[in-house]
Amino acid sequence: MILKITPTLKNLPPTVIVPVAAGESLPAAIRAMADATGIEETLVETDFKAEQGEVQLLYKDTIRFFFLGLGQSPTFQDVLKAFRSFSNKYRQKLSEKVGVSLLHQNLSGDAAIWVEAAVNGLILGTYQIGRYKKTPNGNGHVLAGPNASIEILAEQSSAKNCERAARHGLAIAETQMSVFHLVNAPSNKKNPADLAQWALDSGKKYGYSVKALGKEQILDEGLHALLAVNRGSEYPPAFIIMEYRPEQEPATGLKKIGLVGKGVTFDTGGLSIKPSTNMHYMKSDMGGAAAVFGAMEAAAKLQLPVHLIGIVPSTDNSVDAKSVKPSDVIDSYSGKTIEVIDTDAEGRLILADGLCYMARNYKPDTMINLATLTGSTVRTFGYHAAGLFSNNDTLAAQLFAAGERTGERSWRLPLWDAYKDDIKSDVADLRNFSGRPIAGAIGAAKFLEAFIEGHPAWAHLDIAGVAFNDSEFSSQKSATAFGVRLLLDYISHLE
Ligand code: BES
Ligand code: ZN
Ligand code: ZN
Repeated sequence: MILKITPTLKNLPPTVIVPVAAGESLPAAIRAMADATGIEETLVETDFKAEQGEVQLLYKDTIRFFFLGLGQSPTFQDVLKAFRSFSNKYRQKLSEKVGVSLLHQNLSGDAAIWVEAAVNGLILGTYQIGRYKKTPNGNGHVLAGPNASIEILAEQSSAKNCERAARHGLAIAETQMSVFHLVNAPSNKKNPADLAQWALDSGKKYGYSVKALGKEQILDEGLHALLAVNRGSEYPPAFIIMEYRPEQEPATGLKKIGLVGKGVTFDTGGLSIKPSTNMHYMKSDMGGAAAVFGAMEAAAKLQLPVHLIGIVPSTDNSVDAKSVKPSDVIDSYSGKTIEVIDTDAEGRLILADGLCYMARNYKPDTMINLATLTGSTVRTFGYHAAGLFSNNDTLAAQLFAAGERTGERSWRLPLWDAYKDDIKSDVADLRNFSGRPIAGAIGAAKFLEAFIEGHPAWAHLDIAGVAFNDSEFSSQKSATAFGVRLLLDYISHLE
């Protein structure tokens, strides 16, 4: 992919996309573009209202102008979505070289923000989900080829920022698509060892260190809760540890952020087996791990000024004679014993080991975990927001703000000790489920909190409703890479 910034509307590529916001400024924006390019504006004004996702095609000589509607006061997410669906739906009418005009535009604020959203969307729109088809559906997307180019038409004064924004949009999109592949892969194509391999390859390519502990080392380290979930599996577990630091460290030092992701490659529920309707979606139960992988990779690619540690405990949760049984009491890395009431509450078990390992061995300034943890979060927020839990108001506010900026939203729920009874066991130090179908997301969060070793700045994002969703890529739900952009934005705004 070639990226270019050009300050004029001369020598245009064969396809030019003109993003426009709806509202009072629309007629003037159309007129300015018409004056500059010679396109016929009269009918555009009557036919095109710039509603979110609306597309108006105009021809001028041999150039296609696509006016792309963004709706009123569009957000970053609105622009990204408009470009992504446009790129996906109009693939047949696009040329290998496309232009995006931000000249004469009626978008408020910094052009660079819109450039990042536009480039990110155009690239994400090339994503193809049919990985395992022997005969692919049609030709590949024109913008996915090696000679494809995106030319940003923008004022000279903002060229530098736009160039950087375009590079970021591209780099993040490539990582997000790699994460899509991983999350969309069926479980028989992604064992814990495959997740470890993804991280090893990525670390090698982008210059961060990766250590993958196999079953023996996991035993030696005493990661007993991970081993308990793995008992019913045909495949050994993996405990993946990643570390990134930029090549050039600022004199002021770096913040150390610990990220922990749930890497359940398939969740049958174990002996507390799930109903079969929608069980196939449980291949996405490593969405938290994928977010951590994506954030590590993109941070390294962009050389963000931060010290990141990533931990992914990984296994599937399967049914077998050896599977952990409801009522079993298991050990954990922390030393606390756990009564397993429900084997389907497996994510919190492997995260207990991941979080405690992070807190004890790396002592990060801030610790964030992401997990497709509870159906309760889906019932609360549907598919529009993650559940956010934190013992630190500043951290909660930072993650909330990053969600508002990027559209990867979260909403805070409480961690009051009133809910502590839900995880009290008669026979062990803790139990993994209250046994009652109420306040499930909070109960899970209270359980995790018991394993953070009193860390003062911890947040848990329950992404069960947002990691796998409807999109233009498929008729069924598919991966969103939720968390990648959120974490990168959070990191970029660290003081
Ligand atoms: N992976 C599931 C949660 C989930 C549900 C993710 C729907 C994505 C969509 C998790 O391991 C689970 O099964 N949670 C149970 C816990 C319960 C048994 C305490 C749940 O939420 O029902
Ligand atoms: Zn489960
Ligand atoms: Zn699960």
